[in-house]
Amino acid sequence: MAAMAGRVKSVTENPRLQQCYVTHGEAAARAAAARTRAQARATGEATLCPLQPQNAGIIVCGSSRRSMVNERAANTAPVVGVVGATGAVGVELLRCLEQRRFPLAQLRLFASTRSAGRKLVFRGEPLEVRELREDSFHGVDIALFSAGAATSRRFAPLAVQAGATVIDNSSAFRMDPAVPLVVPEINPQALRSHQGIIANPNCCAIISITPLWPVHRANRILRLLLATYQSASGAGAAAMEELRESTRACLEGREYTPRVLPHPYAFNLFSHNTRIDPATGYNDEELKVIQETRKIFGDPTIRVSATCVRVPVLRAHSMAISFECERPISPDVVRELLRSAPGVQLVDDAERNYFPMPKDASGQDAILVGRIRQDLSDPSGRSIALFVAGDQLLKGAALNAVQIAERL
Ligand code: A2P
Repeated sequence: MAAMAGRVKSVTENPRLQQCYVTHGEAAARAAAARTRAQARATGEATLCPLQPQNAGIIVCGSSRRSMVNERAANTAPVVGVVGATGAVGVELLRCLEQRRFPLAQLRLFASTRSAGRKLVFRGEPLEVRELREDSFHGVDIALFSAGAATSRRFAPLAVQAGATVIDNSSAFRMDPAVPLVVPEINPQALRSHQGIIANPNCCAIISITPLWPVHRANRILRLLLATYQSASGAGAAAMEELRESTRACLEGREYTPRVLPHPYAFNLFSHNTRIDPATGYNDEELKVIQETRKIFGDPTIRVSATCVRVPVLRAHSMAISFECERPISPDVVRELLRSAPGVQLVDDAERNYFPMPKDASGQDAILVGRIRQDLSDPSGRSIALFVAGDQLLKGAALNAVQIAERL
């Protein structure tokens, strides 16, 4: 007991939390520390370091040059873990945390055994990637998962048990009624009900419906049809490499056998590489867009149909969208609604024939929207057609997850 208290004293001088640790054990003390930090954040007060005995001796980011004020502020900040740090989304998670100056006390990187020992740079410092293990979450406050649904199913509950809040980029928990599925521009209020896990939506769902939300609020959308032009990044870093490699091979007249995707990718496109549901004929990606739109909008009656296609583009998804509203609506009204919409940028220059392109959307936080026109197939004047492009790795994944973390 005395040894335990000693370890605690090395990382915190808060006598209340120390006492809690000694009397009630670590789980209770960590919960108390989290509450203290939340209160401090709410009141703008700085607080002492949470109880993370294993943090003793670990240097928090940029500590040597920090002023006393910054040091105190950093001590109120969470310990963040990134699961799948070496993947296409994982790397962008690090970049978003860095660029948005996410206040964190420490960053821990996890991936498979293959990457253990690799170093990734964060805020100018090399950080070692550790193998993800069942005991990896000890002391982690926020765990950002992007290592596929199987890894999330196995490890996210362990992270929650260890006291972390999980923001999961996989499809593992998205349709679980107890798990909020959140796009901060649309349904931030859903975060209030989380029980440890928060799901980051499917990339096509985020990119297609973020710009539609202001329209839906002004003039309810009853029906939504979309066709996607999805980039390689949605299938991970290996698929991006396959696009580069197969294109090179094709240009050099060499044979190339696809390893990641089911069909030749260079100078080709194909129906999304997910399972086809025998009952509906829709693939899993299309069903995700349909179901997740209803959940995020909180509108189970919205009718949605999607056709999801993989195209030979590296990292931004595009979509042709048509929607039908309750009442007549004009392209000018939609343009006006979108001009000030958060997370959206109008690119709608008919004179120059300049509209959203994945090339322009890549590396951008905003979802580009244009080609806004009356849908002539609906003579009632209630339908609009438009085109969007959004960075799948940013707003479609990493950025949305970090925006969620910023609201915790
Ligand atoms: P690793 O690089 O060691 O394979 P992408 O979506 O770009 O394919 O990236 C997937 C990410 O998930 C990578 O960081 C990958 O790590 C990680 N990952 C895959 N499987 C596991 C696993 N079983 N445990 C931990 N991390 C995993």
